Amino acid sequence: MMESKWVWFMRMMVMRTLLLLEGCRWCTTNACLEQERIALLHLKPFFNSHYNDLRSWDEVKNLDCCEWKGVECNTTSKRLIGLSFYSEEWFQGEKLKDRYLNASLFLPFVELKRLYLSGNAIAGCVENEGFGKLSSTLNNLKILDLSYNYLNDSILLSLSELSSLRYLDLSYNRIEGSSHSRGFQWISRLTKLETLALSGNSLKNSVLLHMRNLSSLKTLRLSDNQLEGRLLHTQGLNNLINLRKLDLRGNQIESFQSFKDGDRKLKLTHLEELYLDSNLFNDSVFASLNKLSNLKYLSISGNQLKGSIDMKDLDAFTNLRTLDMSNNELKDIVIHKGII
Ligand SMILES: *[C@@H]1O[C@H](CO)[C@@H](O)[C@H](O)[C@H]1NC(C)=O
Ligand SMILES: *[C@@H]1O[C@H](CO)[C@@H](O)[C@H](O)[C@H]1NC(C)=O
Ligand SMILES: *[C@@H]1O[C@H](CO)[C@@H](O)[C@H](O)[C@H]1NC(C)=O
Ligand SMILES: *[C@@H]1O[C@H](CO)[C@@H](O)[C@H](O)[C@H]1NC(C)=O
Ligand SMILES: *[C@@H]1O[C@H](CO)[C@@H](O)[C@H](O)[C@H]1NC(C)=O
Repeated sequence: MMESKWVWFMRMMVMRTLLLLEGCRWCTTNACLEQERIALLHLKPFFNSHYNDLRSWDEVKNLDCCEWKGVECNTTSKRLIGLSFYSEEWFQGEKLKDRYLNASLFLPFVELKRLYLSGNAIAGCVENEGFGKLSSTLNNLKILDLSYNYLNDSILLSLSELSSLRYLDLSYNRIEGSSHSRGFQWISRLTKLETLALSGNSLKNSVLLHMRNLSSLKTLRLSDNQLEGRLLHTQGLNNLINLRKLDLRGNQIESFQSFKDGDRKLKLTHLEELYLDSNLFNDSVFASLNKLSNLKYLSISGNQLKGSIDMKDLDAFTNLRTLDMSNNELKDIVIHKGII
């Protein structure tokens, strides 16, 4: 008698637990986490605009914030892993007022991997609420896109605390990298950083020297800046020994040259893609590149190549698949027997 009562009790407990589990599974798979939904609603006023309409961010119409525009969740855990506040505003050519972000508003998204904040007229962060605040909590943040904003060098210190970053896009901002600035020395703390995009800023030659410790970089974009003349800090570039892709388009560079020993060679032996278009290089550039034995792609259109190119200059590029020399003043290319 006692035993059967006990068995009955156990059965009831098991059933209750099953019901609870079933119920909970149901509740977690059908909506995002409440604290993340609330945090999103706190972000809404900053990013909601004519150009980035966040009408879908509405608890009443749709409780599951994983389905809101620009929100990406892990499909099993339902935690937020990506957030995209891409705004078209910047591209309308409108003069926008500088805006200051409270980065602490991202703190609840502890599993965030990707954050896209392109084109939002962000000039910096609210005092004491910078990106550094996120460093101990957002350990999974790998991609941060801050392109097309109004950021200057002063943002670099707080960004340098986001040690999990692999990809940082600061293209088309107001970064100068001036010689007294320690900005890129700070960024050197990001030892996992593989891609750094800085196109469309106002960087000068000396920035290469300040970047010399960013040796984890595989891709560096410096197009449309103010690099010019003899690139006297080429040794800074040569320090980036893991570089695969280098973009120097749209500057006024005439030649590579190291300040230290006058050496004119780029020595990036892993480099696979090199973009030198729209600069002021002449025929002597090929001699500077002949250490780049892994180069697969070289474009040097719109420069000052003149007369005829001797294919012998290209002998070193044994892996080259594409060479673009359009929009120069080349007459002909001399090909030696045995090359083809
Ligand atoms: C989703 O979350 C689960 C549980 O936390 C984890 O095991 C899985 O790797 C995550 N998937 C992705 C794509 O992040
Ligand atoms: C920034 O956001 C955090 C988190 O919501 C909040 O506690 C803090 O008061 C905000 N700071 C400012 C200056 O608005
Ligand atoms: C850089 O931006 C910060 C924040 O907007 C501003 O206070 C500072 O004056 C700017 N510095 C320069 C050199 O423009
Ligand atoms: C690079 O690292 C070396 C050694 O760790 C250090 O002495 C130097 O100051 C660093 N240079 C820059 C530009 O950060
Ligand atoms: C090519 O450019 C280099 C560096 O600016 C210069 O020293 C050299 O005289 C130029 N050569 C020709 C043929 O113009």
